[in-house]
Amino acid sequence: MTHGPAAAAGRSRVMITLGREPPGSRARFELLWVGKGIPGKEFRRESGRERNSGVKVLVFAGSMRAASLNKRLAKVAAGALARAGAEVDLADFREFEVPLYDGDLETASGVPAGAQALASRLQRAGSLCLVTPEYNHSIPGTVKNAIDWLSRIRPSPLANVPALVMSASPGLAGGSRAAWAVKVPLELLGMLVYPGIFTLAQANQRFGPDGGLKDDDLAERLEKLCEDFVRYATALDPIRAARPA
Ligand code: FNR
Repeated sequence: MTHGPAAAAGRSRVMITLGREPPGSRARFELLWVGKGIPGKEFRRESGRERNSGVKVLVFAGSMRAASLNKRLAKVAAGALARAGAEVDLADFREFEVPLYDGDLETASGVPAGAQALASRLQRAGSLCLVTPEYNHSIPGTVKNAIDWLSRIRPSPLANVPALVMSASPGLAGGSRAAWAVKVPLELLGMLVYPGIFTLAQANQRFGPDGGLKDDDLAERLEKLCEDFVRYATALDPIRAARPA
């Protein structure tokens, strides 16, 4: 696990080896990351043998689009969370499709199947990474609508669930206003929202052909945030376990 010719030549190289031991034992991760050979900017991370944190994260982007930038970021985040020791359930928002909230519909037929599916996936995971697009300086109506349906379920599938928020946009603000906005209903509903966020500005230019982030500094920041979130969710485990009915 050392520098090869690519690193010596100052080229960017990422090598991730994921090995699994027999069922029941802990997953092993080895990560070597050699950054760009820019003077003063080289970085190298080796997490060594890792680490099944016991944290499981449901990851999805709040976009329906097949070519969604937020979906691409969600995939990158899923990889970073896995390297940080989390078990990851990467979902597509379309799996949780719901009608517009309607009190009469709720009275007639209850909470729709898409919201029930989202609630059970979330409960099975125990924590959430939500990557939201930004529409008109806030969250898309689809995301808010899903949250509204979730809020009708008892016991609450959101209470005491750790959550990490990210956003991506072609704009210069990276969807940051949506990322902040989504914290309001999530916190109101009792989620334990991690204070840090990851926002990806000019997201349409940020992904390389392998689907990863082209910029080493951004990639490094995302890795660090995911590591911090996994530690945070681990520390909150006793609170998670004491979910109110
Ligand atoms: C946008 N977009 C956008 N972007 C932004 O940075 N700030 C904004 O306020 C808005 N507003 C907005 C409103 C509506 C109705 C649409 C359709 C789009 C652009 C948006 O960020 C862009 O389309 C993203 O690519 C959407 O996310 P996905 O689908 O690529 O994940």
